[in-house]
Amino acid sequence: MKMKTLWCWTETIVLILVFKICFIASFQLTELRQVCTICGGTFLNSTPVGKLCSLSAGRIDGRCCLMNNTRDPEQIIGLDLSSCSLTHMDELHGASTVLMIDLSLNPIVNISDTAFQGFRDLNYMILPQHIACPGGNTSWQKVEVKEGNRLCEGQKNMCNQTGELSMNCPENSLCAPYGPGFYECSCAENYRGYKCLREGDFPALQVFGPLAASTVVISFLLWVTQRRKAKSL
Ligand SMILES: *[C@@H]1O[C@H](CO)[C@@H](O)[C@H](O)[C@H]1NC(C)=O
Ligand SMILES: *[C@@H]1O[C@H](CO)[C@@H](O)[C@H](O)[C@H]1NC(C)=O
Ligand SMILES: *[C@@H]1O[C@H](CO)[C@@H](O)[C@H](O)[C@H]1NC(C)=O
Repeated sequence: MKMKTLWCWTETIVLILVFKICFIASFQLTELRQVCTICGGTFLNSTPVGKLCSLSAGRIDGRCCLMNNTRDPEQIIGLDLSSCSLTHMDELHGASTVLMIDLSLNPIVNISDTAFQGFRDLNYMILPQHIACPGGNTSWQKVEVKEGNRLCEGQKNMCNQTGELSMNCPENSLCAPYGPGFYECSCAENYRGYKCLREGDFPALQVFGPLAASTVVISFLLWVTQRRKAKSL
């Protein structure tokens, strides 16, 4: 009787784990796809994003150009949201790998300040004329107005700016670009913690210890289940 209870319990844990993994995976996939299906239609090969896509042999999915990458399954490299009736622009989840975004011909009134935070590779944007480039003119190599559109070209590395910005990272940390107008500070090798003040190795035991312990417990429970099954044969 006792064994039976244990068996149900382990099965439940395994089921929960499987569901968790499936849920996370499908959630990430839907997030990725949502950006591509924000509005109907597909893009033409003659548009800037279309040209980029055919040059890099990408795969078109709705309003996205996807490209295979050695690290991840597929990444969005181009996003053509031209004529999408967009009025606001908040977060573009799953699109932070994008190189080019076209937002022309949209009645946009506002773009959130943090909409393109983390978009490190973004190098070309087409915006309605009245919308400023994210991060302002100083975040781009070239800003120009052409045929009713504002073009933001070449994202500047905020860490390379002269002035205080590059000095904003605490000692023992490195400045790295983090999207137009943004930068992030990451601790230099061998430093960690708040403001990178602590020196020493990464506390592997404290971080991975609990993970290893729970794996051992689950493995043990699985082993018990299997043994019970084998015995009953
Ligand atoms: C645009 O958004 C900012 C916050 O992101 C807000 O402060 C501002 O009032 C908004 N402007 C308009 C015209 O909606
Ligand atoms: C940014 O650059 C554009 C195009 O050169 C210019 O029209 C605009 O006035 C500039 N904006 C600011 C705030 O300097
Ligand atoms: C820009 O900064 C990077 C490090 O963030 C540095 O390696 C590079 O030499 C800098 N380039 C210029 C032109 O200062």
